[in-house]
Amino acid sequence: MLRIAINGYGRIGRSVLRAIYENGYQDRLHVVAINELSDIETISYLTRYDTTHGRFPKPVSIEGQNLIIGDDKIQCFNSESPEELDWPSLNVDLVLECSGMFAEREQIQRFLNAGAPRILLSQPASADVDATIVFGFNHERSMAADQTIVSAASCTTNCVIPVLDTLQELAGVEHGATQTIHSAMNDQPIIDAYHTKDLRLTRSAMSSIIPVNTGLDRGIARLMPELSGKISSNAVRVPTINVSLIDMVIRTNHPVTAEQVNQALQGAAASKYAGLLGYTQEAHASVDFNHDPRSVIIDGTQTQVVDGRLVKLLCWFDNEWGYANRMLDVACYWQQQLENSAEH
Ligand SMILES: NC(=O)c1ccc[n+]([C@@H]2O[C@H](COP(=O)([O-])OP(=O)(O)OC[C@H]3O[C@@H](n4cnc5c(N)ncnc54)[C@H](OP(=O)(O)O)[C@@H]3O)[C@@H](O)[C@H]2O)c1
Repeated sequence: MLRIAINGYGRIGRSVLRAIYENGYQDRLHVVAINELSDIETISYLTRYDTTHGRFPKPVSIEGQNLIIGDDKIQCFNSESPEELDWPSLNVDLVLECSGMFAEREQIQRFLNAGAPRILLSQPASADVDATIVFGFNHERSMAADQTIVSAASCTTNCVIPVLDTLQELAGVEHGATQTIHSAMNDQPIIDAYHTKDLRLTRSAMSSIIPVNTGLDRGIARLMPELSGKISSNAVRVPTINVSLIDMVIRTNHPVTAEQVNQALQGAAASKYAGLLGYTQEAHASVDFNHDPRSVIIDGTQTQVVDGRLVKLLCWFDNEWGYANRMLDVACYWQQQLENSAEH
């Protein structure tokens, strides 16, 4: 059992706690602390009610500065600085860093310096973390018990890597382009407002399709170095509250048909990427994938191949729920590694 702290209890932090109770991670992961800038009443309220994912599956109440879920007591803190928390006395094994505020290694190191033993990041972070993991693709070869800072990559990287890996094996990937069509996020205002770093993030999230920066091409290169410089990436945010899409165009090395591509992806969905990659031929809209725990679902009705080697795919993903479940998969694998190393 790993004792967990969640730092930053926003969309991903709350999805992570909920997924632990909903999806059977309770036997292996035990949340003992939450650090979020808000007060305990609001933390409790936003745990109980969620516009996107519905009501919390268990009764939630407050006792002093603790959140009570069933028999579990979770201590709540509201510190902006990792140094203000007494990590050793919390006896935490792993911090799930879900605030998004600690991206550089020296920033993340602050948790370790303050006594937290391990950090799992909900973003790609800087390239000098100990490992960047897309669960299902590289966790077995890239994770080790003695690592201290691991990233669970991004939701978009978790979406594209199983697909690129499958295409690479089927026909080889020469080059390509990804267009992410992403739901709105909390770094956007509802009505136009000031933003210190990005002019486009000043614009009303509910009124426009807004191009935003993405590091997906760098994320792909970190996981599949052989594709470095070969896949471009763009992203837009759209006025929906959850579920996103990646429109992927790949030039393969060898000719393929749409049927072969779909067959290979169905094969991956039934074997190497079972439970992580899905495949559908239904007529879906994005809302159908709300609360879907998989990293990516291929809409097989939209697969096209032009001129033998230009493959076009639509890849759905629940950017919150799929990603939160992958973070927990990585945490569970880390726990297994730690148990194995303790036995030897
Ligand atoms: N949402 C997604 O679809 C998604 C998917 C995958 C990965 N991610 C990544 O996960 C990270 C968080 O995203 P999110 O969507 O969950 O954002 P969010 O909803 O804004 O949640 C972040 C939370 O962290 C709190 N916070 C800010 N500074 C903090 C600090 N120093 N210590 C503790 N808590 C702090 C924020 O409080 P205030 O609001 O009071 O500032 C907020 O409640 C980002 O790096 C994002 O890129 C997001």
